[in-house]
Amino acid sequence: MKGLIISGKFGEIRVRQKHGEQIELGELLIAENKDSKILMQAYDLEYGSQLSQSNLELVSGMKIEEDTDMEFMDEKIRSYTIALLKNLITITKKPHSSKALPDFFSEVREVKKEDLSFLTKPSNPLFVGNLRSGSKQLDFGIFLPGEKVFSHHILISATTGRGKSNLASVMLWDLLGKDYAGILVLDPHDEYYGRNRFGLKDHPSENLIYYSINPPPGAFTLKINIRQIKPSHFNGAADWSDPQKEALSAFYKKFKEKWIEAIITEQDTGSKFSEGTIAVIRRRLLNLLSLDFVDRNIICNGIFDVNSGLSTLNEICMNLERGKMVVIDTSIFSGNVEILIGSLISTEILNKYKHYKNSGELEGKPVVSIFLEEAPRVLGKEVLEKGQNIFSTIAREGRKFKVGLTAITQLPSLIPREILANMNTKIILGIEMQPERQAIIESAAQDLSSDSRAIASLDKGEAIITSNFTRFAIPVKIPLFEEFAKVDERKETKNSFEGINLG
Ligand SMILES: Nc1ncnc2c1ncn2[C@@H]1O[C@H](COP(=O)(O)OP(=O)(O)OP(=O)(O)O)[C@@H](O)[C@H]1O
Ligand SMILES: [Mg+2]
Repeated sequence: MKGLIISGKFGEIRVRQKHGEQIELGELLIAENKDSKILMQAYDLEYGSQLSQSNLELVSGMKIEEDTDMEFMDEKIRSYTIALLKNLITITKKPHSSKALPDFFSEVREVKKEDLSFLTKPSNPLFVGNLRSGSKQLDFGIFLPGEKVFSHHILISATTGRGKSNLASVMLWDLLGKDYAGILVLDPHDEYYGRNRFGLKDHPSENLIYYSINPPPGAFTLKINIRQIKPSHFNGAADWSDPQKEALSAFYKKFKEKWIEAIITEQDTGSKFSEGTIAVIRRRLLNLLSLDFVDRNIICNGIFDVNSGLSTLNEICMNLERGKMVVIDTSIFSGNVEILIGSLISTEILNKYKHYKNSGELEGKPVVSIFLEEAPRVLGKEVLEKGQNIFSTIAREGRKFKVGLTAITQLPSLIPREILANMNTKIILGIEMQPERQAIIESAAQDLSSDSRAIASLDKGEAIITSNFTRFAIPVKIPLFEEFAKVDERKETKNSFEGINLG
């Protein structure tokens, strides 16, 4: 027994903690009624005492000033901790959201694995960690319904260093063994593949495809032909003024897929654009695409090429459509170039999936998710005020076409509320800044209004998952990637985790 329910109201149940026991913030507790169990969670703690305030002051005064202990009552009875709990779910034959209080004066105890046997493994399970009660980890794997959560977008949010990348690695490792999802990872820190250390490349499956500008053996060289770029691909990646945008469209209209070459070689559209405008877009294109124009030749210094790279986008999309994972090392590019690459692939895949929807082929295709670090770069309010881009389009309507985002950010408050609300699954790790917590809490699938403090005090790898596809906000502990993957690697069957269905 951990304590006894003594007062309170719905969503604010007060429990007196038993002497010698300790209830932690975030701990899961069970109260047993006659024909149901109620699962609850501690969200706040305070002191309680049998002594009046003036007696407390007297006793402390004697202790401080006279160094004498005044014993009023048995210590166990005299002072204690009060824990405030909220209901998560009522467990009966058919578990349902709680609408009643547990019995007055009922005992509360620790949650046990058996209490949660109503939860079974969903189809296309995505492993995210183990159930957590306060800081204790339970031997109980948490699986989300992978296909659904990916098409309805995932937001992973935390202060720097709390384990966002580690969580992404765990999810990606789990995904490599499955083919219900095609995953595109734009990796600005080149941290997932494991070029010089243990990483996704060490997974036994052959589902991983890695592109880099300097690929290790077995990986692919990233080359994209400039004729595949359209002006709209720059949305989010480059900030053009209105006259500049008009000039880009005019070139595209006249020269079709050779429009970039036409700008660089200074051809004429027939429309009147100022020389300054053309000079600026020309310079910026050369710069963004790492091109030079020497002796009337276009020299390609980066991944964008005039001759090669015509099939790259198509190959990447084909692999995504086969449920494979494509990791792109964008570590040496500027943020704008990374976004441009992401936007080229994302536009292509969304268009393909739109086409499949029209032709009735979408059903048989794997869901596609695009993993994106520092998501406010393309989904931020300031960026979107200047115009939509492919990522905001996917955030708004991608789920209809089975294309979703897995957005990673330290600063969710920069993302407009409407888009945050569209991200139906949020994995919240420790967030120190109040406005950031607030942005997440306000757009969460479950009521987290009393969890701000719990979110602030989450340690590395501790998270809360709130989702339209879970019954309640689930506290989890994410394993450390290397430990998780090395154990998993040794397992013969990949699906031998204990699972639960949260749908
Ligand atoms: N689940 C975990 N269990 C134990 N330690 C962890 C866990 N997750 C992360 N860590 C530790 O914290 C460190 C930082 O984690 P990680 O790189 O995933 O943070 P991040 O949120 O991605 O940070 P950044 O904002 O800098 O990208 C890791 O190197 C690891 O040592
Ligand atoms: Mg990181």
